[in-house]
Amino acid sequence: MTSAGSVASPFDAHSPEAHAIAGLFAETLVVCAVVGAIVAGLVAYCVVRFRAGRRPGEPIQVHGATWLEITWTLIPLAVVVGLFVRTAQAMGVADPPHDRDPDVVVTGHQWWWEARYASGAVAANEIHIPVGKNLLVRIESADVVHDFWVPQLARKMDAVPGHPSFVWMQADVSGTYLGACAEYCGAQHAWMRIVVIAEPPSVFDAWERHQREPASPPATDAAVRGARHFTSKTCIECHAIGGPGEQARVAPDLTHLAQRGSLGAGVLGNTPAELAHWLRDPQGVKPGSHMPDAQLTDAEVSDLVAYFETLR
Ligand code: CUA
Repeated sequence: MTSAGSVASPFDAHSPEAHAIAGLFAETLVVCAVVGAIVAGLVAYCVVRFRAGRRPGEPIQVHGATWLEITWTLIPLAVVVGLFVRTAQAMGVADPPHDRDPDVVVTGHQWWWEARYASGAVAANEIHIPVGKNLLVRIESADVVHDFWVPQLARKMDAVPGHPSFVWMQADVSGTYLGACAEYCGAQHAWMRIVVIAEPPSVFDAWERHQREPASPPATDAAVRGARHFTSKTCIECHAIGGPGEQARVAPDLTHLAQRGSLGAGVLGNTPAELAHWLRDPQGVKPGSHMPDAQLTDAEVSDLVAYFETLR
């Protein structure tokens, strides 16, 4: 019933910054493992070789052995300097600038993600990006601390209210990359999935252009009734259906809802049956969510579904 797959490993990196971070982690792990093995091996050797009873009295004293002191100073120093240099290189690749306008502003809400593009396009939970282009993303929060994490594409970044943060986001190859909120943020923290869809630039441009177009007007009788319910049943208090400039920002923009693959930030797939289930019982599907139970009749649900299905 859920639409979200599992979030991929950060070691399956698909962007320059994710490669830099995964590479740095792997190198640091190897260096630390070698140091740990040498230290543990020497301790084990000494425990056996010099255990009490075999050689009574003080062990051989090596105080003042200059070559030994130089060796055990230089080797750790070389290790630390090496790790510092590699860390600085990885930071150079992964650290975004803070002095230019972002390409996308991603805002964490309880419990969904809003994406607003510099072009005016608006999306929720599903973030489209052009393949091969490094986008500067500003991470914000509308309420509590969330954490934006798409492990294959970018570093993990907190969304702190009143304190924007930045990440680079790029995908080397087309595909769908899953992410999740990585900071406990309340009842539905687990259903705050992110889907990043990386597509060829021409496909992305078409998508972005389409997102900026206003909603298609309802054509069938059921859809016309659904559009009426949308305004009369308080849906419109939180959701916008229109185009750029619509101000409702409490809940996901629904102007092109039917294009999305999931509902409720990943809790359901976006099929007519699952949409009807969500409208009928949002608190059963996603308990604690800010989507209230509007006490809709079956006829109202089916009209609303008919209307929403036209919002391509
Ligand atoms: Cu948002 Cu956890």
